[in-house]
Amino acid sequence: MDAAQDTDDAAPGYSGPVLYYTDAVIDHFTNPRNVGEMAAGEYDGYACIGDPGCGDEMKLWIVVRDGRISRIAFKSYGCPGAISTSSMLTVLAEGKSLAEALRISDDDVVNALGGIPENKQHCSLLGVQALHAAIENMQARSV
Ligand code: FES
Repeated sequence: MDAAQDTDDAAPGYSGPVLYYTDAVIDHFTNPRNVGEMAAGEYDGYACIGDPGCGDEMKLWIVVRDGRISRIAFKSYGCPGAISTSSMLTVLAEGKSLAEALRISDDDVVNALGGIPENKQHCSLLGVQALHAAIENMQARSV
C-alpha cells in the first residue's frame, strides 16, 4: 500500500485513506495566492471549469498586457488538492507570455508543490484547463 494511502495513522474510528500533503500544498491550501474575482470590464479572459467526477469547480480571470498575463485571479470550490493546485497555477502563470502560459502542464503544477497524493493528481487539471479556457475566451473576444 502506498504511504499516501496508508490507514495505520488514521484517527480511531476512521477507515478512509490518510493523505499526506507536502508543506507547499498545505501552505497554498491555507494561504492561497491570487484569490479573488474580477468584474466585467476588468478582465480580458474568464473561464469556469468543473470536474464532473467530484463536483469541484474553478473560476479564473486573466488580464493580459503586452502579451503577458499581468493579473490573474481565481476562486475554487473544492478539495485541498483543488485549492492548492489552483493557487500554484496562478503563481506559475503570472507574468508569463500566453505561449508560455499554454505550456504549463499539470505536472508542472504538481512538481512546483513538491508532489501531491496520487489520487489527488486529477485536481491539478482544474487550474490548467481553466487557464487554457480563459486564454481561449480572451482570444474569442478579440476577433
Ligand atoms: S477531489 Fe475534485 S478536484 Fe480534488
